[in-house]
Amino acid sequence: MLVTEKQYVQWLEKENGKETLRHARWLSANNHQPPERIVVVDDTTTADEAYRLACAGTSMLWRGDFHNGRQLLQAINRRIERTNERSEQRKRKKAANKNKSESDHNQLPNLFHQQRQMQAQRSRLLSRLLLELDADYVSKLRRAPDVNAACMAAFGELNDEPCLLSLRDLQGALGAAQWRKKGVTIENLGLSIYPHYGVFAPTRNEYVQLLLDAPLPKACDVAYDIGTGTGLLAIILAQRGVGQVIATDLNPRAIACARDNFERQELSNIQLQQTDLFPTDAPPANLIICNPPWLPAKPSSPLEYAVYDANSTMLRGFLQGARQHLSEKGEVWLILSDLAEHLQLRTREELLGWFVDAGLTVKYRLDTKPKHGRSQDENDPLFAARSSEVTSLWCLVSTSYEP
Ligand SMILES: C[S@@+](CC[C@H](N)C(=O)[O-])C[C@H]1O[C@@H](n2cnc3c(N)ncnc32)[C@H](O)[C@@H]1O
Repeated sequence: MLVTEKQYVQWLEKENGKETLRHARWLSANNHQPPERIVVVDDTTTADEAYRLACAGTSMLWRGDFHNGRQLLQAINRRIERTNERSEQRKRKKAANKNKSESDHNQLPNLFHQQRQMQAQRSRLLSRLLLELDADYVSKLRRAPDVNAACMAAFGELNDEPCLLSLRDLQGALGAAQWRKKGVTIENLGLSIYPHYGVFAPTRNEYVQLLLDAPLPKACDVAYDIGTGTGLLAIILAQRGVGQVIATDLNPRAIACARDNFERQELSNIQLQQTDLFPTDAPPANLIICNPPWLPAKPSSPLEYAVYDANSTMLRGFLQGARQHLSEKGEVWLILSDLAEHLQLRTREELLGWFVDAGLTVKYRLDTKPKHGRSQDENDPLFAARSSEVTSLWCLVSTSYEP
């Protein structure tokens, strides 16, 4: 997930009363470029000052108490939210004046892009509060927690180099370590899945029931799970009695994570391949399942590759290639939400056209309505789209095969 090429930062800092040029390795989970300007700040820095510096493009190296640093970050976040709210209100007013007849619904694609821009800007500003960790990922700040294990899991060995990273990225690593320890409960399966840092966590798992409800093809000796993430869907197939499951993912972290989850479930009939879409040297599949990233938009960081799929590249590649990997009466189960359609990023006709172009016919479709918090939040600017969202399991068969 991190840029493999090492990057370094330098800054001036007073040591024993003398200005000294310091340098360290730069770590960024979001591939943010190393900061150009760094000033040293501490408990005497006010939230307004820090917010102003962040907005001016200056990064701040925190030398105060660890918990005060966390509070400062929250205070910066509140200021960003207030500014964003004001800007959203202004934009809505302007749009309403411009075209009074234009409904909220017609503004959804713009709102979606504006929201993403705001999130990206928020992430940039919050990432300007930095911490230094030594080569063993130890922070020398007062009241600093032990972050070694979480950082090792997220960023790997530092090889004897101290590093600078944003407090926000450190919090991401600590949060991921908690999930990995506690797991995500998948209620309808009665098991927990343990996501690793940088791997899609199945917290919104309404589609699991669809996978349990869909009847398996009559003969189901071999199945593929394309884009396995934590391995959740492959585990469901193995538990439903599929003889051999081959799971793939492009992301090496997902492969390690899925392996961990298969071992925890003591499942030995699932093989893993780190590859683009379909496995190589594999027997034809009676069933191929895929839960691709749902939204056709450009990922803005490595962590977003499981959610956004620029130009629907993965989805279209999956559909185009599926038929040639299917056994004669094989089935494709595509798990897809129609949120992209409500946001007017893709049309239903386009999707159906891609099925036809790939030589696939719809055998049946199972639907479910998401119940997660954001679908019920009327204050969410995208509420009109989120509240109408339906997640489907599309069962597709080869067009030449008439059941
Ligand atoms: C929405 S997540 C689904 C994860 C998991 N199947 C689940 O349902 O919880 C999509 C997954 O597809 C993977 N992916 C994206 N593009 C891929 C590609 N071209 N080949 C294989 N995997 C890919 C991502 O790394 C991510 O793990």
